[in-house]
Amino acid sequence: MSETDRPDPAPESTAPYGSGPAAADPSAAVAPRKRVRVHHLRAMKERGEHFAMLTSYDQLTAQIFDQAGIPVLLVGDSAANNVLGYETTLPVTVDELLPLVRAVTRGSHSALVVADLPFGSYQSSPEQALATSVRFMKEGGAHAVKLEGGGTVVPQVAAIVAAGIPVMAHIGFTPQSEHGLGGYRVQGRGDAGDDLVRGALALQRAGAFAIVLEMVPGDVAKRVTAELSIPTIGIGAGVDCDGQVLVWQDMAGLRSGPMPRFVKRYADLRTTLSEAATAFAADVADLAYPGEEHTFH
Ligand code: KIV
Repeated sequence: MSETDRPDPAPESTAPYGSGPAAADPSAAVAPRKRVRVHHLRAMKERGEHFAMLTSYDQLTAQIFDQAGIPVLLVGDSAANNVLGYETTLPVTVDELLPLVRAVTRGSHSALVVADLPFGSYQSSPEQALATSVRFMKEGGAHAVKLEGGGTVVPQVAAIVAAGIPVMAHIGFTPQSEHGLGGYRVQGRGDAGDDLVRGALALQRAGAFAIVLEMVPGDVAKRVTAELSIPTIGIGAGVDCDGQVLVWQDMAGLRSGPMPRFVKRYADLRTTLSEAATAFAADVADLAYPGEEHTFH
């Protein structure tokens, strides 16, 4: 391909961090944004500003969400079901997630990129948890890691934080323990609410910078959020958390099938993509594509 045949390069991310969602025109030239750091999230909690986190597993969604002003991108182990075709998150490995983390860190300029530690990569010991976290930081370029579990993973959180790596915790329904929790169900109802609060406080003491609360009753999440000085990020945990997270394919309507009650769809990408693919195939069959304008002479 000659230089003149090449398409224009993609526009750089330029919207300022803290100015809210980026302008509708992502190529609008404004000052470069600063990288979001964990203290910014804490400051947002203190100011009562609620923030969004989305999953991302590739360069282009990372770029789009970054330019849209999403301050935190999570390369979740949910890549297992949403990218790699596994039934659950249990089989996905560090080696499978690392290239996705690299793609997201390359694609984003401003967002804090959090790498999820997959099942089996941190539970054995604090040493194992630290070694896995170091791989995500060194080889993936992540800015923080996330792991699932309450009181039982406090030693792991403490060891990772002691090495200077920011840790996001994840309690309530924790998909990696789905079998142990008796299936996909709300956690922390009744007396279990007190355990959840105790677990959250222990994780904060161990040095976690934020805690994901998944499928927790709204009043329990509100209590946890009020008792902690670090931000809570809800997924199926009501409106009182400091932040909210969704899996991007759920949020954008790419995935089909029944959705959990907490999912809100903001687009219908599945229909859009399906219509585009159908139209492309029809054009090819009818010799309507490529046209004269797509043909080199
Ligand atoms: O892996 C993931 O996507 C997650 C979010 C649902 C919080 O852990």
